[in-house]
Amino acid sequence: MESPNVLPAAAQQATEKLTTAAIFLTLQLKPVPSAREVVRSFCADLAALVRAVGFRDLDGQLSCVLGIGSEAWDCLFGEPRPAQLHPFREIRSGPRNAVSTPGDLLLHIRAQRMDLCFELAMEITQRLGTVARTVDEVQGFKYFDDRDLLGFVDGTENPVGSEAEDAVFIGAEDPPFAGGTYVIIQKYLHDLDRWNQLPTEQQERIVGRRKLSDVELDAAIKPSYAHNALTSIVDNGKEVKIVRANMPFGSIAQGEFGTYFIGYSRSPRTIERMLENMFIGSPPGNYDRLLDVSHPVTGCLFFVPSATLLDAAADDPAADNANTDNRVDLPAPQPDTHPGDAAGNAATGGADGSLGIGSLKGEFHE
Ligand code: HEM
Repeated sequence: MESPNVLPAAAQQATEKLTTAAIFLTLQLKPVPSAREVVRSFCADLAALVRAVGFRDLDGQLSCVLGIGSEAWDCLFGEPRPAQLHPFREIRSGPRNAVSTPGDLLLHIRAQRMDLCFELAMEITQRLGTVARTVDEVQGFKYFDDRDLLGFVDGTENPVGSEAEDAVFIGAEDPPFAGGTYVIIQKYLHDLDRWNQLPTEQQERIVGRRKLSDVELDAAIKPSYAHNALTSIVDNGKEVKIVRANMPFGSIAQGEFGTYFIGYSRSPRTIERMLENMFIGSPPGNYDRLLDVSHPVTGCLFFVPSATLLDAAADDPAADNANTDNRVDLPAPQPDTHPGDAAGNAATGGADGSLGIGSLKGEFHE
């Protein structure tokens, strides 16, 4: 049983409704001494940046969620660390491979207008340009009635309102990080020619829903390998939900047709179990047939701190202690340290949710 959820801290906008446009940016930190200071001050200013761009059209519903990868967490904040933060775990099973790819920061930018998303993405990358480079950018769009490029409505079974908040935001199980959440992203490419050769009835059995009406297949005819069967996680008789904000994307010139999977959950384990069911199968071998026509080319896991923690990120006890001029010099990279290895870190954080956390680790990588 999950602990009851209380939200002492304001959360980031992870449970926003689907929009017509989105930009997903994955950034990697550069091994430069100023990275910690620049990123922490950016964290504190992000809400103001979103307000500044978003105010140009309030109906545009601009929002941005910032996630931080496992190694980056150690570099930027140190101890304490979110209890379940770790690098994305690759899964290999036969020809199916859920790859794990580099990513220190995720920016999930959403709006009803692509220009708002693009403007904010420019502001963010200008601000972080000296300390981070963009390793992946996907511009997602709404496709008819929230369909993916396979032609099926995507997002129907997402929880909403308090059910979504309960599914996504950390509560009493990790008090310093209450109001935070975890996010897993995967950029999938589809073989649309192959998919479109399948009869509609077979596509419906693979997804587990009717293509035109979006109605769920009757249990009597839904196969155990259906996507919505393999991604249903039930614990103690109760379904454990996640919130997805998938978007189609593509490039005609590159012949690229994809779905950007993005799932928020208060425990990454829920999404990992779904991935195991999809890639390995449940039982093993009974895998997700979507993967016969789709493969992920990225895979990352991030922690999404509460907005309250982000606002406080510029107050860096390590910088205050170590530098009179308020600059931080990172020690040289230490190849033998592991994310999550707290050795040598001064744990200065409090269980009050303040960002009185962190010492230097210097695990930035090129
Ligand atoms: C190729 C990429 C993917 C595509 C095209 C896709 C598409 C869909 C579609 C069409 C549905 C049915 C409608 C709905 O309830 O949203 C669905 C449901 C769902 N998908 Fe995916 N999905 C993809 C990847 C994933 C991944 C990687 C996960 C999790 C690891 C996932 C988790 C779920 C969940 C939890 C549901 C709802 C199941 C239910 O309770 O009925 N999906 N997906």
